[in-house]
Order: sequence, then structure tokens, then C-alpha cells
Amino acid sequence: MSDNRIPLLIDTDPGVDDALAILMAFDDLAHEVIGLTIVAGNVGLKHTVANALKLCEVAGRGDIPVFAGCAEPLLHPAPDAADVHGADGFGDIGYTQAARAAEAEHAVQAIIRLSHEHAGRLLLVALGPLTNVALALKLDPTLPSRVARLVVMGGAVNARGNITPFAEFNTHFDPEAAHIVFEAFETFDLADWEATLAHGFLHVDVDAWCAADAECARFYDAISRKTRAWSGERRGERWHSADSLAMAFALAPEGAETASHRLSVSLDGPARGVTLVDWQGLDPRPANARILLRYDQAAFEARVARALAAI
Ligand code: BDR
Ligand code: CA
Repeated sequence: MSDNRIPLLIDTDPGVDDALAILMAFDDLAHEVIGLTIVAGNVGLKHTVANALKLCEVAGRGDIPVFAGCAEPLLHPAPDAADVHGADGFGDIGYTQAARAAEAEHAVQAIIRLSHEHAGRLLLVALGPLTNVALALKLDPTLPSRVARLVVMGGAVNARGNITPFAEFNTHFDPEAAHIVFEAFETFDLADWEATLAHGFLHVDVDAWCAADAECARFYDAISRKTRAWSGERRGERWHSADSLAMAFALAPEGAETASHRLSVSLDGPARGVTLVDWQGLDPRPANARILLRYDQAAFEARVARALAAI
């Protein structure tokens, strides 16, 4: 294995689409996953940690440290996404718990430590609410100086949300955390919900990928079955996997078309958690978000298919 691999730290709340994104990261030879820092979001922390550990086990990656992080948003409680991902976040298939437990170190401490160990090279990909990353910034405001690239799955850049009419789940779950992160990083990459909607997979294709004769595919087929059915009833012939699109953008940015704009998040009232994009450049502050507009769909699908069949 080449020593030039990019160190990749994934902050995540697994979650069915988080799981697919993590498998894609495991499958990529140019990146070395150095840890999973876990946050509450799709479901409670107890489940998101258990799911991360189980996924590593199924993928044969028990070597990857899993760190438990924040169990709730910074300020205000928020609804989870158990209706989409299952009460346990992994489709309630009743899997046997992983043999391994999470590390003793808190996820927020791990983010800071790993940013020092991989200073200037670290790729940080945030697939859940930004609570852990925000708290890391509060503990150590110099964090952005050591992160080579931050990729965030979150927001809905034209305010076409998925948890409220206007807000996307991750930014709605912890808007204060999103605000802290968006203001602290001079630049970051954003894969939002609306890009996700433009890059769905045909259900028939997902069924075929999940039918691969591989342990990962069998497990993924089982945990994603309910959410795929849920989505099929509501959103038609395509299934949308937000975190896997963000991961494709993270792993292979050359497949992306982007635009840079100033992005912020609303904290109050009915617009709480809504991302606001200065599309016209009227805000005097510099652009902070490199927003994913389009991604090479064929390359994206090939990556997903390969990740499921990898083991
Ligand atoms: C995001 O919310 C979660 O339900 C998914 O895992 C993804 O991170 C999509 O809005
Ligand atoms: Ca997620």
C-alpha cells in the first residue's frame, strides 16, 4: 500500500447512506481511513456507534478506530430520522452486535489529536450533524489550519429541504454547530440535499449491486431494504443517497462541477436550519463554500457498485 494515501477522517451518524459512504471510503486505494468519529443524528448515539462498529466488522475493517462523540445537539433537541433509517438506524434487522467496543477517547478529542498527527494532509468528511466538529473548534480554534480539506454533507442550497419544507436534516438537527463550522473554516466543500436529488440511483440498479456475492452487499441489502422501500413509495424510481454523493465528491473531486459562494445557516424561527446562499455575490464577505452542482453520475455509480462488491 502506498504511503502517499490521503488520511481520511469520517465524522458520521450511521445511518444507511452513511454506511454506503463509509464502504466507498474503505474501497478507495488513494485514501486511508484513520478513524470514524460518531455523532447522534439519524438515531441516538448508542445506535450510531453500534452501527459503525458493526459495519467495520462486516467490512473486515476492525482495525479502524471508532470514537463515540456528542449524544445531542449543542443547544436544542431535534427530531431524528428513525422513520427513514429504522429505529436502530440500520433498518432494524436485528444484527448481532459487533465484538468490539468504541475507543475510550471522545470523538472530539480524537478529531483534534488526529488533526495534529496528520496536519496539513487531513481530509475531514462530515456526514452527519456538525456537533462534533463544532465542539472541536470550540476546544481548539486552530483546527482549520491543520485540515487540508473539509467536505460537508448538509444544507439545501435553494431551500428545498427534506426535514422541513426548507431545511435539510443535518443542518436542521444542529444549526448552531453548522453555524460555528461554516464561520470557522475559510473554505469547505459542500454536497447538499438538492445535489443528492439530482444524482439518484435507479432502484433496479441498486437491487443489482446489492445482489453481489459479497458479505458487504448482503449486509447492505438487508440494512437498506426498508429505507429503499420507503423512498420508492415517496420519491419514485430513483433512490437518493446523500452521504455517498458527498463521499464521491470527497474521494474524487475531479468528477465534480462546483461553484463557490458565501453560505450561512439560519438559526431562528421557521427558517431554523435553512442554509442561505449568496448566489449573486452581494455579501461583501468572501465565498466560503465550494458547492457541488453536478457530479459524474457514471463514475459515482461505478464507485458504489465496486464498494458493495469489494469484500
Ligand atoms: C442527511 O441526513 C441523514 O438522514 C443522512 O444520513 C444524510 O447525512 C441527508 O439529509
Ligand atoms: Ca448522515
